[in-house]
Amino acid sequence: MTIAIIAGTDIYSIPGITLHPLTVKTPYGSVDLYRAGDPHAQLIFLPRHGPTHATPPHRINYRANMKALAMLEVEAALAVYAVGSIHPDIPPKSLIALDDFLDFTTGRISTFYEGGNTGVAHTIMSPPYCSTLRKQLLAHASQFGLNIRSTGVYVCTNGPRFETPGEIRAYAKLGGDVVGMTGAQEATLARELGIHFAAVAISINWAAGMEPSIRIVSEGMDELRSSLLALCIHTLERTNAYNCICNHAVLVTHPPKA
Ligand code: HPA
Repeated sequence: MTIAIIAGTDIYSIPGITLHPLTVKTPYGSVDLYRAGDPHAQLIFLPRHGPTHATPPHRINYRANMKALAMLEVEAALAVYAVGSIHPDIPPKSLIALDDFLDFTTGRISTFYEGGNTGVAHTIMSPPYCSTLRKQLLAHASQFGLNIRSTGVYVCTNGPRFETPGEIRAYAKLGGDVVGMTGAQEATLARELGIHFAAVAISINWAAGMEPSIRIVSEGMDELRSSLLALCIHTLERTNAYNCICNHAVLVTHPPKA
């Protein structure tokens, strides 16, 4: 079974794993990603901002990225997101297995179904993340010395600017726990493609207004990211009995024409 890790800020390789570059041409554009070497040859690594972080969150070609995974026959993926903490109980350096998201982005294409020849479909996003992968990830965490919060609502903003303190106060009232700029499209597009998809947020700062100014925490982060990636790969490689809605969540109203 082909599996994938999708990562962003500060994760451009996987410690201890050889990565071979690969370019996939999709109907939406080309994507540069990697296939891992033996003994992890089933693993694809996708740096969502590109190999050198040249693409900002609002310019990422989310459809091309996710379609490339589908074209490589990826069936399950775990995504890692750097976030700011909104909830006072989730300090920087926390890991959160996301269980919901709020999408405040604008102008991003979040579907493969755009009508006409591409068809019309409505995709079920409750729950938004693969329940099997989430359960497995949490079950394996302690083996890697990781403490992962089992719930958290991700607020997706458009970026690339940080939020204002007023915006963060509003997101807190709406139920947001952490904030980032990339999470909503990947979850939605993965579900449309029938890819099992779950996500872990790694908090790197208190969100705007929670401290006098934004301060990115770097101490101990490399070790945390490295353990988290090891956990994600371990989880993906050992999960094969899926019991979730991911494969049958697209309700097609008007089928696409080939
Ligand atoms: N806001 C939005 N995105 C982020 C933040 C933040 O505070 N920290 C890391 N990604």
